Amino acid sequence: MTVTGAMEKAHRGEETTPLLQVRDLTVAFAQKRTVPWRAAGTVTAVQGLSLELDAGRTLGLVGESGSGKSTTARALLHLIRPAAGTITAAGFDVASFGRRVPIGYRRAVQAVFQDPLGSLDPTHVIGDIVAEPLSIHFDMRGADRDRRVTALLDQVGLAAHHTRRYPYELSGGQRQRVAIAKALAVEPRLIILDEPVSALDVSVQSQIINLLEDVQEGTGVAYLFVAHDLAVVRHTSDDIAVMYRSRIVETGPADRICERPAHPYTEALLAAVPDPDPARQRVQRERRHRLRAAAADRAAGGPRQTAPAGTPGCPFVARCPHRMPVCTRSFPDWTPVAGGGRVACHLYAEVDRAEPGTGVTPEPEEQR
Ligand SMILES: Nc1ncnc2c1ncn2[C@@H]1O[C@H](COP(=O)(O)OP(=O)(O)O)[C@@H](O)[C@H]1O
Ligand code: SF4
Ligand SMILES: [Mg+2]
Repeated sequence: MTVTGAMEKAHRGEETTPLLQVRDLTVAFAQKRTVPWRAAGTVTAVQGLSLELDAGRTLGLVGESGSGKSTTARALLHLIRPAAGTITAAGFDVASFGRRVPIGYRRAVQAVFQDPLGSLDPTHVIGDIVAEPLSIHFDMRGADRDRRVTALLDQVGLAAHHTRRYPYELSGGQRQRVAIAKALAVEPRLIILDEPVSALDVSVQSQIINLLEDVQEGTGVAYLFVAHDLAVVRHTSDDIAVMYRSRIVETGPADRICERPAHPYTEALLAAVPDPDPARQRVQRERRHRLRAAAADRAAGGPRQTAPAGTPGCPFVARCPHRMPVCTRSFPDWTPVAGGGRVACHLYAEVDRAEPGTGVTPEPEEQR
């Protein structure tokens, strides 16, 4: 469920249990010593992350490289253990898992990664790769299993003769189709898609995105769609969560996020996405111009402020054209946004706007 959806349902007094619910997830990695006299530290890759996703829906998790998206995905798959927070998915409490992930969870929650060559066994033909989960989870054998493999390949747009091919004999798009077929074999309720089209040509990207949409329509599976490119998730997602340097900074319905972004980082992400509509292209040009001008003003005003992941302030402070003194001191409270969702930015918090001496007044357009 979306944060918006959850709030609306709570308002109506309806009891809801989202398919996926993450609360205050924090993941830290031990950092190797770079020099002998400096103590080994930790990198906080994900900090205080909360999100929700309803059955059959798509949540886009978007942010530039290094923002913590894959770490979030890996924590959901129990490939790494979080330092704090809770994850419940398909009725499972992920924190209660031991070293082995319960078979029921592996069936309910599947994953497709950017590079299917890494996840498809190179020594097996496609038919065996797709058959394996059918044997493990449904104890399928013989002709029944062969028929199901052919049907799954057909579902992802691959002819039956591909069963005899090895992964290296297929194109990147075909391999990603196999990875999707393998995930679908266990009839999951949620598929975590970590940059599923980032390694593909643009024309192939849209084919895979169309396939994912068809699959969702046919099966009702939910997607957590991770991408560094907002253009990839804007049309596929019902809702979007924008991540920057270990934190989610804005959430909301995909249309609202892309038409009226609230967070300065979401604005910057959006400014990088070309829009075919000339009127919107003009708005984008103006937005880019405004962001560049503000960045130049800031550069003229002194050295860049930095806020490494894990520090208390806003993670975007070093690049933000609207930054204020308060922005380095505390992570902003969440503020609801008109049109749905929430933003974590001091520009939107009444108490911060009233703070004297900030020197920055948000432009009227930003005061939504
Ligand atoms: N196994 C690891 N050990 C140490 N640091 C890691 C590890 N995995 C990820 N990180 C760090 O965590 C941060 C987030 O990485 P990641 O989740 O891969 O980001 P994204 O998927 O958004 O590109 C990065 O700074 C990365 O260097
Ligand atoms: S909190 Fe401050 S630095 Fe962060 S995005 Fe908002 S205005 Fe910019
Ligand atoms: Mg990643």
